[in-house]
Amino acid sequence: MHREDFPILESRINGHQLVYLDNAATTQKPLSVIQKISDCYLHHNANVHRGVHFLSQDATELHEGARRRVQRFINAGSSDEIVFTRGTTESINLVASSFSEAFLHAGDEVIVSVMEHHSNFVPWQLLRDRKGIRLRVIDIHEDGTLNLDSFRSLLSSRTRLVCLSHTSNVLGTVNSVGDIIAEAHSHDIPVLIDGAQSVPHLRVDVQALDCDFLVFSGHKIYGPTGIGILYGKRRWLEQMPPYQAGGEMIEKVTLEKTDFNVLPYKFEAGTPDFIGTVALAEALDYVDSIGIDTIAAHEQSLLDYATSQLLAVPGLKIYGQAAHKAGVISFLVDGCHPYDMGLLLDQLGIAVRTGHHCADPLMQRLGITGTVRASFALYNTREEVDTLVKGIDRVASMLR
Ligand code: ALA
Repeated sequence: MHREDFPILESRINGHQLVYLDNAATTQKPLSVIQKISDCYLHHNANVHRGVHFLSQDATELHEGARRRVQRFINAGSSDEIVFTRGTTESINLVASSFSEAFLHAGDEVIVSVMEHHSNFVPWQLLRDRKGIRLRVIDIHEDGTLNLDSFRSLLSSRTRLVCLSHTSNVLGTVNSVGDIIAEAHSHDIPVLIDGAQSVPHLRVDVQALDCDFLVFSGHKIYGPTGIGILYGKRRWLEQMPPYQAGGEMIEKVTLEKTDFNVLPYKFEAGTPDFIGTVALAEALDYVDSIGIDTIAAHEQSLLDYATSQLLAVPGLKIYGQAAHKAGVISFLVDGCHPYDMGLLLDQLGIAVRTGHHCADPLMQRLGITGTVRASFALYNTREEVDTLVKGIDRVASMLR
């Protein structure tokens, strides 16, 4: 649906009509977002929060309007709780750095799951090495769902934070984060939700979930690269020290000391990517104009169709068979290396991702080195799924 809004989908790749199925890596951008970026540079460009002149005020209003737009999209209580970052990775690094400075001591424990993206492992591993915290890892069941007994067995009097992906970028599992949050909160433990793969595909309401932090990226939700979101409850953000230092995050600087700015600016050192924030707001308008529930239903029907078609391919195994999945299918075909499969599908104009998907610990847990991954967005069609399935059949017979 709405394919006409995405000019790049008309491309021909290697002589074939493009079939873009790498949406978990990044989505394509609608024309309205692309035009908004030029419009900002053509008509609204000046640094924000820094000028009394017209253009600076204009850009500041657009930028702060974008913050309120994000607030509405995830139903945060206040726009002060919306921090602009470069993406999910920077948002997690911000929390790892700043939350740990305020609240973590040697011997304290942080819980993640084995299905996390590297961006939700490595910052905590660095802290383990630098600060002596312990990293505890929730295991999964064979179908790719979280093992809740494993989660409960890891909770201890030293647990200080739980950090969990809402949706796995490999397995597609949508984790029951509401239950995890409620259970963690019953032990007074805050929870960070990595929404990189969920916010673009299902309704996420931070007040209903009651998560303490939510992070996601603009480029996976039809917005530009280089802009991301950290939502944090005010009570945490207020107690956390600044992450980076420089302009914008200060209230007053003397030779002796610095008083920091109020939320959210305390965490936004330097000139923000105000073109990116405004274009992200445009992307959220676009999503809302279709309706996130309509998008979710469309992607779910593609997922169901693709799953049944792929399971009929001889020798094909799907990794991640949870009952509640997002539009992500990881698979391997007997006798075919995933890189070869990816390269040959590309020759047919089909874009999929191959490899470890920045989730090496999960690959080790599954006993494989990588998969082929097809991931859906609102503009994908059943015909594209058919093209993928035919392509896999053809490539598999070549490789065997
Ligand atoms: N995290 C992105 C992916 O899963 C890049 O492809």
